[in-house]
Amino acid sequence: MMKRWIVENDVDKNKSYPQIVDAARFLQENEVVAFPTETVYGLGANAKSDEAVDKIFKAKGRPSDNPLIVHISNKQQLSELVNDVPEAAEKLISAYWPGPLTLIFHKKEGVLSEKVTAGLESVAIRMPDHPVALAIIEEAGLPIAAPSANRSGKPSPTAAQHVVDDLEGRIVGVVDGGETGVGVESTVVDCTGEVPVILRPGGVTREQLHEVVGQVAVDPSLKEGKGAPKSPGMKYTHYAPDAPVYLVDGTREDVQKLVDEKRAEGLKAGVLTTDEFVEEYRADVVLSVGRRDDLNTVAHGLYNALRTFNNSDVDIIFAEMFPEEGVGLAIMNRLQKAAGYRVIKA
Ligand code: TXA
Ligand code: MG
Repeated sequence: MMKRWIVENDVDKNKSYPQIVDAARFLQENEVVAFPTETVYGLGANAKSDEAVDKIFKAKGRPSDNPLIVHISNKQQLSELVNDVPEAAEKLISAYWPGPLTLIFHKKEGVLSEKVTAGLESVAIRMPDHPVALAIIEEAGLPIAAPSANRSGKPSPTAAQHVVDDLEGRIVGVVDGGETGVGVESTVVDCTGEVPVILRPGGVTREQLHEVVGQVAVDPSLKEGKGAPKSPGMKYTHYAPDAPVYLVDGTREDVQKLVDEKRAEGLKAGVLTTDEFVEEYRADVVLSVGRRDDLNTVAHGLYNALRTFNNSDVDIIFAEMFPEEGVGLAIMNRLQKAAGYRVIKA
């Protein structure tokens, strides 16, 4: 049985908690430990140790050419990891750290395990906005490499139970701080060039970035779902339930028609919708991700809903689409990946 250290999600940074001290001790001993962040649960390990970082890749079944994000607990730690902080990065840090924003820098040589950066000259760094995450990193006194704490390809975990479901027997334990807030991962922004580029949309929106740095580009390979993305992780199938997902570019009637067709063929069909319409569909499983009139609730509930389909025996899932505004850009990016970019134009 893996350990489950239960803590309140609003730990006081001036107090010491035995659960956090214990979890941090395992990190210092180069073991991997999962913990909550404001986005999703992370699978943490000492970013300076090859041995520790290797354990992350093994536990997740993650391809080793996909680099990890390094998590820090205070802004001073950044100077240990990078030589130069470009002006745009400086502004974004002031505005959004701690928070769901990961920045790419030229790395300082010889500090981190090469395995963290998968041989790249750049490094991804973020300071999470979650008191439990910050307390663990602070207590460990180390930069902590942490991908999402799911088995590779699965939806990211937004609750400790998701981590247990995926990684039981593969890691020492999970610090259980309850459900995560944002629900989708951090926004990854490359600040090493002239214009900041969004490599992965996430919790901090394009509009919010624009407010602080003006011009912001979006990695073009995100749109088509092909080409070679600059963020290596974006090329793998991800977030997928066991049954195939199809996005439906159409009305609720179009979705219902597709469901009816599949059921006539003897298949069990699921629908992913929102609170507003969850009562309107006739299907084998109908799940709501949140409220369409507040996309933050959709981001918050997305991965749990995708995972919940695996508790049923649906053969096929039809999902409604969302406007690509605000956090909707991240929601649609994850849904498209979960669907393997299959969109039915009705
Ligand atoms: O919200 C999050 O960011 C969560 C929590 C746990 O902090 N972490 C997370 O990590 O989502 P992961 O490993 O699942 O995703 C990291 C993403 C991948 O798409 C990876 O390819 C990209 O960041 N990345 C990491 N280092 C990079 C680099 N040097 N250049 C470009 N992309 C990089
Ligand atoms: Mg991930």
